[in-house]
This record gives sequence, C-alpha cells and structure tokens, in this order.
Amino acid sequence: MTGTGPDEPVIEVRGLRKEFVVRVRAGRFRRTKRVVTAVDGIDLTVHRGEMVGYIGPNGAGKSTTLKMLTGVLTPSAGEVRVCGFTPVPQRTRLALRIGVVFGQRSQLWWDLPLRDSFDLLRHIYRVPGAEHAARLRRCRTLLDLDGFLDVPVRQLSLGQRMRGELTAALLHRPEVLFLDEPTIGLDVVSRQAVRSFLAELGRAGDTTLLLTTHDLADIERLCRRLVVIDHGGVVHDGSIEALHTRYGSRRLVVADLDEPLAETPVLAGAPLLRTEADGRRLVFACESATASTVVAGLAQLVALRDIAIVEPDIEDVVTRLYRAPAPVEPG
Ligand SMILES: Nc1ncnc2c1ncn2[C@@H]1O[C@H](COP(=O)(O)OP(=O)(O)OP(=O)(O)O)[C@@H](O)[C@H]1O
Ligand SMILES: [Mg+2]
Repeated sequence: MTGTGPDEPVIEVRGLRKEFVVRVRAGRFRRTKRVVTAVDGIDLTVHRGEMVGYIGPNGAGKSTTLKMLTGVLTPSAGEVRVCGFTPVPQRTRLALRIGVVFGQRSQLWWDLPLRDSFDLLRHIYRVPGAEHAARLRRCRTLLDLDGFLDVPVRQLSLGQRMRGELTAALLHRPEVLFLDEPTIGLDVVSRQAVRSFLAELGRAGDTTLLLTTHDLADIERLCRRLVVIDHGGVVHDGSIEALHTRYGSRRLVVADLDEPLAETPVLAGAPLLRTEADGRRLVFACESATASTVVAGLAQLVALRDIAIVEPDIEDVVTRLYRAPAPVEPG
C-alpha cells in the first residue's frame, strides 16, 4: 500500500546527520581517527510535485544527503521518511517508488545494449508491457536515444549514458526522482535535452524532484525552490527570488557612451560599480533606485549611445553566499 496520504510530505527529514570516521596520518607511523561531519542536522520537507534544487559548494554534503534519502547510507542520527518509508530498512519497497541518478555511478548493465537494460528493468519493476513501451517511446523521442539504443553501455559517451540513466530511472514511473548532477559533463545539446525533459516532467505535476547540480542554469530552468547547504547545514530554503532579496542582488544598468566623461555622473541610490572600455562604458548597480530612474537620470546627464539593464545573476548571488563565513560554533 502507499505510504503517504495525498497531503503528506513525500520527503520528510528531521535533524539528519552523517558522520564518517576517517583515518588520518599523524606523524610518520601513527594514524589517528578523525570524525568528518558530512551532514550536520538537516531539516527538509518536500511535497508532491515540488521541483527542488539542492545546491552547495564541493563537499557541502549534497551527495551524502541523497544517499541517505535513497537508502544507500544509514544516517548517524535523525529521521528520514520518503514516500512514507524509512529508506535503509525499507529500501526494496522504496526502490519501486523512487528513481535515482547518481552522475558518477551507473545503474545500467555495462555489457548490455541500453535496450536490454531497459527490458531487464521492466521485469525487475514489473511494469506492464504496454506502459513500459509507451514510456520508453517518450524517452526515446525526448532524449533522442535512437542512435545508440543497441550499443553496449560501456561504449557510450558520457552524455549518451546519462540520457540512458535518466530513462532507466523513469521507466517504472517513480513518484520521486533524486538526481545527483545529472547534467555533469554533458554538451550543450544534451544538457538542453535533459533540461527540457525534466521541465516536461515538472509540468505534468505528479513527479517530485530533488536535484543537485553545479550548473545553476539547471536550477533556474527547473526549480522554483532552492535549498542551499554548506558545511552540512541548510543556509537557504526558499525561492530564487527570495535568495536575491536576502543577499541583496541588484540589477545593473550598463550605459555605453560615445566619449568618456571628464566627471563621473552621480546618481542617487545607484552607485557606479565600474567603468569599462576606457571609460566609454559605465556600470551602475540599482540599489535603492529603480532601473528606470537610473536610465532617466543618465539620459539627462550624458549622451547615451546604448543602454542595457542586466538582471540579477544567480551565479553572482550564489558565489557570495558560498563565500560567506561559516557560522561560528558556540564555545
Ligand atoms: N565515504 C566517505 N568517507 C569519508 N568521508 C566522506 C565520505 N563520503 C563523503 N565524505 C565527506 O563528507 C563531506 C560531504 O561530501 P559529499 O560527497 O556529500 O559532498 P557534495 O556536497 O556532494 O560535494 P560535491 O559538490 O563535490 O559533489 C566531504 O567532506 C567528504 O569528504
Ligand atoms: Mg556530490
């Protein structure tokens, strides 16, 4: 039976922790044990149909979280429920309800052509033939698989294999999809194919997605909600807009002039960030001023050749967020 009611969260995480004990060299012969806290008390609630971007710098604890949510790793502490199941002890039952792609690992059979892997998965998950065929047909079209369906997986390029992995993760119609860097190493065309495919899933509204990526364009395209983790803890959980507001992202006004000015124009609420092109380009940040007042103000002061308003850049915000100092431990 299903583990969750219609309004219950699909993913429910409370106080999740994971510690690894690692051996480190201490002098020439001695080794000592050191505890690495990879996940340090994460709370997370995700409802059906949500598309959540789970981001953070290298080593923040993203993959470790995903491994605990999918039953690969046992948490050191805390509670996890996914589709109403506790992932590790109920791993087999959970597997029927979730789809998983870990960019670095494969769930395909290395020596078999993709087509045969898909067929094996159909039997493992006991998907009715007609349903399987319909889903595979859709993946073939949307992810453009036909050119390499009969090639053994070991001979596939990374991008081809990732498209195969996504298909494999979806053939049993999972309710929740966990994707750990699904666009890593893909060329522009494959990346777009994967994004459009996931966007289409999102539009259908019944798949829940938890996605980690270092490509923030994935997030902008797919996720309304962004969870940012650092040092194993959540530092932001909300919309991308909320992140911009919180970390003070600013629109920029970029003004191109025919001639450099002798004196820099001063505009209230919009400091000059920098000049470029030997003083022929001025870049202002809209702090308290709106872009339109900045443009109007500039037009009064100087002869403009061209003007552009640049939207806040998520890359810029996230860089500043990652660089923010780690919270100081009390004591
Ligand atoms: N099996 C392990 N044994 C020891 N330490 C580990 C193990 N797995 C992860 N860690 C450590 O836990 C921390 C979090 O690792 P994790 O792989 O979750 O990071 P991540 O956010 O996925 O990073 P990336 O963006 O590089 O993929 C790191 O400090 C890592 O070295
Ligand atoms: Mg990782």
